[in-house]
Amino acid sequence: MSPSSAAFAEGKILVTIDDRVGIVTFNNLDKRNAMSLEMWQGLGEALTALRDDPEIRVVVLTGAGGKAFVSGADISQFEQSRHNAAASEAYAERSAAQRALLAAYPKPTIACIRGFCLGGGLQIAMLTDMRFASEDSQFGIPAAKLGIAYGHDGLRNLVSLVGPSQARLLLYTGMRIDAAEALRIGLVDRMMAADELMPATLDIARSIAGNAPLAVQAAKITIAEVLKDESRRDMDAIKRIGDACMDSEDFREGRRAFMEKRKPSFTGR
Ligand code: COA
Repeated sequence: MSPSSAAFAEGKILVTIDDRVGIVTFNNLDKRNAMSLEMWQGLGEALTALRDDPEIRVVVLTGAGGKAFVSGADISQFEQSRHNAAASEAYAERSAAQRALLAAYPKPTIACIRGFCLGGGLQIAMLTDMRFASEDSQFGIPAAKLGIAYGHDGLRNLVSLVGPSQARLLLYTGMRIDAAEALRIGLVDRMMAADELMPATLDIARSIAGNAPLAVQAAKITIAEVLKDESRRDMDAIKRIGDACMDSEDFREGRRAFMEKRKPSFTGR
């Protein structure tokens, strides 16, 4: 994808490129980056463009303005589009493809979280591979305060990250927890001072980008399969990526570079 920046959903979803890292920014400042259906559409377009750009090795999702990652779905659209079960199903359908895209994204993804990360915003963060948060971030799923039910896909990641009891505590109360608590229960993986968050996230993203893409993909695919129910686990997919990796030019390059005491240069083949 070129040039090195692009805008989707009338500027509410922004994409910039930093070396081999694509950065997607939620940019709906007036609403603490709440996600409208148009933004979901734009997010899908941004993720597709970065997925299809062979230069991009890692994707970081973040929120503009420092006050929020994403404050949830845009509640102002609920009266019209999510007012009962049938409407709610149609509403969910309009972001289903984008959620599926992020859930099965072929490149590593990182959520870089400052400020509020609530409801649908936390769901987006939980669809990424890992979550780094600033000390001043806050997390919660206020569904019970709004009268909303979360379905199986909405809760599966939460339960797998924090366990059933912490998931119940968050959902029954709708409470907000701070970054330290989120770190303690496994909802986020790193906590940093706000001004260190993006530089440290990019450092990690760049170090992933410098590794052998097939090996990183093998880890991603295998971990995703481990998390599935055994009956749905695709052992062939694990074997296929494992073989591709071990037969790759990059594996040869990795061995040679080690023996020659130099930095490897990986191509993803
Ligand atoms: N949808 C639509 N608008 C939202 C929103 C959301 N999810 N979250 C915030 N906004 C809007 C507010 O209505 C307000 O608009 P206004 O300036 O026209 O009044 C603006 O963003 C700023 O929000 P405000 O509440 O004044 O800021 P705050 O810093 O005091 O609190 C939040 C921020 C995010 C904690 C609070 O706005 C909130 O609780 N939002 C709803 C979160 C939620 O329930 N998400 C789950 C939805 S599924």
